[in-house]
Amino acid sequence: MQKVILLGGGGFAREVLEIIEVINKNTDNKIMPIGFVYDGAGKETGKLIHDIPVLGEVSYLKNIDFSEVRLIAAVGRSVWRRKMVEEAKKLGGKFISIVHPSVILSKWAKIGDGAIIQRLCGIMPEVVIGDFFVSNAYVGIGHDSIIGDYVHINPHVSIAGGTVIGNDVFIGVRATVLTCKIGDGAVIGACALITKDVPANMLAKGIPAKFYKMDEKKY
Ligand SMILES: CC(C)(COP(=O)(O)OP(=O)(O)OC[C@H]1O[C@@H](n2cnc3c(N)ncnc32)[C@H](O)[C@@H]1OP(=O)(O)O)[C@@H](O)C(=O)NCCC(=O)NCCS
Repeated sequence: MQKVILLGGGGFAREVLEIIEVINKNTDNKIMPIGFVYDGAGKETGKLIHDIPVLGEVSYLKNIDFSEVRLIAAVGRSVWRRKMVEEAKKLGGKFISIVHPSVILSKWAKIGDGAIIQRLCGIMPEVVIGDFFVSNAYVGIGHDSIIGDYVHINPHVSIAGGTVIGNDVFIGVRATVLTCKIGDGAVIGACALITKDVPANMLAKGIPAKFYKMDEKKY
């Protein structure tokens, strides 16, 4: 049995609890969530989310003995995930990955630490993915694609083979990315069709996508 604390307490964290339920049905080595920590949890400390308590802010982790407990980076937005993960790591936190048993993950693909991969995704041969990756349900990532750290891909996204995606990129629900490069920090809008390289820190939306400057990166 592996005790875990979830970073995050929003909708995505509840989705991660659901994946853990499915994993636990198929293994004797159960994952046991013992609490949630997240930025802004102060007033919500003690609240139960599906019978599991909110323990407090990320700083609560200084009380944890990480020889027994692991963390799961269950925060959707890349900007918040990076901030909370970095704080947790400074406090000694060690992360595990959570992969839904229905995922088709090529034995020739590589994924870094702390990933969360939702149901029915397909990750093809020679794909290389960095740390703290999040893929929501029904995502397809074609062969030979390279993906950076803290990338978040939302449901029903299709990534063509040979695509290169930088760090901290957010790809909205149902977007399609043809073989090209997406720069660090870019945000791809829901349903966008990406037909050419997206510069770093730009917002791309529409079919075919046009590029816009972002005043503030929210995702
Ligand atoms: C694109 C996005 C990041 C917001 O961009 P924004 O420029 O800040 O959008 P705003 O809400 O200010 O809208 C500005 C204009 O863009 C349009 N717009 C918003 N999202 C769009 C999208 N995905 N594609 C095309 N146009 C979009 C709006 O209709 C609006 O048009 P108007 O000026 O003609 O009225 C956001 O709408 C989006 O797509 N987020 C992804 C959501 C998602 O996938 N979440 C995951 C859920 S599981």
